[in-house]
Amino acid sequence: MATPEVPQHPPAPQELLAPLSNQEVKERVLALAQPADQALTANLTSHVPFIEEVSGYIIFSGGKRLRPVLFLLASRALGRMAEPRHAAIFEYLHAATLLHDDVVDDAGLRRGRPAARVKYGNDAVILVGDFLFSKSYSLSVEVPDLRFVRALTDCTTHMAEGQVLELIHTDDLELGHQGYLRVIVAKTAVLLAAACQMGAIQAGASDETVRAFYDYGMELGVAFQMVDDALDYVGSEHEFGKPVGHDLEEGKITLPFIHARDHASPEMRARLLELARRGRQEPQVLTEAKEIIRAQGGVEATVAWANFHAARAQAALKPLLDGGQANPDLLTMLGLASYVITRRA
Ligand code: IPE
Ligand code: IPE
Ligand code: MG
Ligand code: MG
Ligand code: MG
Repeated sequence: MATPEVPQHPPAPQELLAPLSNQEVKERVLALAQPADQALTANLTSHVPFIEEVSGYIIFSGGKRLRPVLFLLASRALGRMAEPRHAAIFEYLHAATLLHDDVVDDAGLRRGRPAARVKYGNDAVILVGDFLFSKSYSLSVEVPDLRFVRALTDCTTHMAEGQVLELIHTDDLELGHQGYLRVIVAKTAVLLAAACQMGAIQAGASDETVRAFYDYGMELGVAFQMVDDALDYVGSEHEFGKPVGHDLEEGKITLPFIHARDHASPEMRARLLELARRGRQEPQVLTEAKEIIRAQGGVEATVAWANFHAARAQAALKPLLDGGQANPDLLTMLGLASYVITRRA
């Protein structure tokens, strides 16, 4: 699936529809997270108790459950609520990518507690991640629409490419907006897209409607990762539950950096690049690099781009909004798009 097109210039501020308050969005998400949670417990069985222990450690550590909830919301919005056990597909996949991601990113904290790799070691979490991937596939074959499994395998292929793409671009100080977008679409957005797409598929929707849900999830996912990348520069570790200021230390070039680099004076740009180059050997110089990035408005520009993509997410659902007839699940999905922009965790 193509990477969303990016206009050449930073976007003008976009008004987002906010049919619900953030609190209402959270409550509605929580209500659907409950059945998803039950399914997560029920299906997490293995002949090897250690696998259950490690999987349980990451899965029951307080994630937002955004992906399974999107799947359930999409299906119910279309009049045929999916089985919660199939919602587990998306959280197992997500947990697998988090296990692997924390190894790749050398991260010590996840969801406010030691990352699974700290407790169990890298080898164990890589192997258990593979188990969770496999669990997702076994659940997906229960849905008798071939489009369902196809969507899942397309998604996981794309996600693996995303993490590899990001790896290849480690320390690539020339990475541009389009290259960055390609990475975040693949590593993050395709899973949110697939959750919405597969919710629509299992509700028996037409290809056109399935596509609208996919587009919504894709744009939401891009906005979501952009906010994640902004919070890495300004979030609080306490609220975020994971390391902040870590991306640049790991050579991860994200939009705050890209924006600052491309909008700074030649002298400031040269200074930023010099610090970033040295930073891998002398991490202390990155404090100044991060200050430059913030002072150049890298964080605000990133949030503005996230806002732009959130507006596109909402636009994807507009054809489905039936005038005055407010479908509560579609409203929640619209609300989620404005919620992700203001999230702090
Ligand atoms: C974290 O995802 C990984 C990214 C795509 C940025 P979430 O922020 O959804 O993580 P949890 O599941 O709520 O912990
Ligand atoms: C998200 O990227 C990658 C995944 C899809 C897991 P990050 O590396 O920024 O995720 P966090 O910040 O560690 O959750
Ligand atoms: Mg990470
Ligand atoms: Mg990562
Ligand atoms: Mg991050």
